[in-house]
Amino acid sequence: MAVRKIVLYPDPLLARVSEPVEVITDEIRELCSDMLETMYAAPGVGLAAPQVGVLKQIVVYDPSGKEDERHPVVLINPEVTLTGETVVSEQEGCLSVPLNYRADVKRSSAIHLRYMDLDGVVHERDIDDFEAIIVQHETDHLKGVLFIDKIGHLRRSLYDTKVKKWLKRKKEDA
Ligand code: NI
Repeated sequence: MAVRKIVLYPDPLLARVSEPVEVITDEIRELCSDMLETMYAAPGVGLAAPQVGVLKQIVVYDPSGKEDERHPVVLINPEVTLTGETVVSEQEGCLSVPLNYRADVKRSSAIHLRYMDLDGVVHERDIDDFEAIIVQHETDHLKGVLFIDKIGHLRRSLYDTKVKKWLKRKKEDA
């Protein structure tokens, strides 16, 4: 297992669409355990494969948020149907969105989720609350969508200005 480097916005890779996993190989299993290790090390509650530079439809997450009581979940080729009402996910963040930026995002309160596990078994579940919001956020990554794509033009352009300044500083310090 290894902690992998997390790809940061504005890397264009984060805007690309991921491919479905055709066969669950040892390489895929290793990727999933690395993704979990990377997520826990960050620390974060979810991570999608493109965030470690792999354009495959894989998501890992842990809705427990507790270090002593881990519930890691791996989703291969997840398909989400929004089934709830619109709610505001408060102060959402993302490991790929620098400067610890957070903003409120509209999400569905519940989803129907279909996915494959690492044994190739297909599962269907209805989930709600915090877990449903994590899964919506992470599966958006597989479509090349970040939460900052959902925050409105003014907020987004203010954020982009901050990122540009931060990148410039980083370049000057290097
Ligand atoms: Ni994210």
